[in-house]
Amino acid sequence: MTFLALQPLSLDLLPAAVALDQRCFGGLWTLDGYQRELESPNSELLVVVEKAEGRLPKASADRRQETGDRRQEAEGAREAEGAKEQKHLDSTLEISPSETLREQNSKLSPPRSTPHTLLPTPLVGLGCYWAILEEAHITMLAIDPVYQRQGLGQTLLYALIASAHARGLERATLEVRVSNASALALYQKFDFREAGRRRRYYPDNGEDALVLWRGGIQTPEFSGRLRDWQQQVYDRLCKAGWQLDIDSDR
Ligand SMILES: CC(C)(COP(=O)(O)OP(=O)(O)OC[C@H]1O[C@@H](n2cnc3c(N)ncnc32)[C@H](O)[C@@H]1OP(=O)(O)O)[C@@H](O)C(=O)NCCC(=O)NCCS
Repeated sequence: MTFLALQPLSLDLLPAAVALDQRCFGGLWTLDGYQRELESPNSELLVVVEKAEGRLPKASADRRQETGDRRQEAEGAREAEGAKEQKHLDSTLEISPSETLREQNSKLSPPRSTPHTLLPTPLVGLGCYWAILEEAHITMLAIDPVYQRQGLGQTLLYALIASAHARGLERATLEVRVSNASALALYQKFDFREAGRRRRYYPDNGEDALVLWRGGIQTPEFSGRLRDWQQQVYDRLCKAGWQLDIDSDR
């Protein structure tokens, strides 16, 4: 088992959040953007973090090494792009020459076995919604490509919906590219229904957005639905060799 934590984004993880955003969306939000989310009482921004190796039993450490190896393969291909990104982030963060971003990040996670690893970070997923009136507007859901298809995306989505329920919100809504089959399948699993289409919504390629809704979050039946999802989420994580840390479980 390898341990995961689900927790609110914190200041120390901002650079890792920006880096993950770059990898998943090509840079949707800037560092300032993430900082504003931290400060907004209407924003719920959760991250999935792989727990530090020092706290793990040996089997988990081995698993982390395997995952690290897969990350490194993927990261090797991104290295040229990453050098550019790192330069940009260093200047954005105004890090002094004596403490580079790489060094800052190395405090967040154990050193990896190969020296060329880009931005070694335990942050593997990001999810956010804005509470607007009685609605949860899901604005972000992303899992590091190397960690996809292991149940982490549905864990994050479940956590966002459970949080919206706890806040007393009535509905959840979001926009998704018509071509994003994996996200659409995920949202369907959580009973989101198509409510409309925004033509040429995405400026990069003029693609349409589908508007999805999930109502009934405060109905009496919904608590049972949440429990079912929670079980599914835990079973799927367990099958993939992950365990959600109880302390930070939400
Ligand atoms: C969408 C995303 C968050 C899914 O994360 P993930 O960790 O791979 O998803 P999970 O492993 O939890 O999968 C949960 C369900 O999603 C669906 N799904 C996920 N990836 C899929 C794929 N490649 N093809 C088909 N269905 C997929 C399935 O229904 C899956 O359930 P199953 O495993 O029982 O079949 C991830 O692909 C991602 O970050 N994509 C890039 C960013 C993005 O497009 N975000 C959505 C913006 S609206």
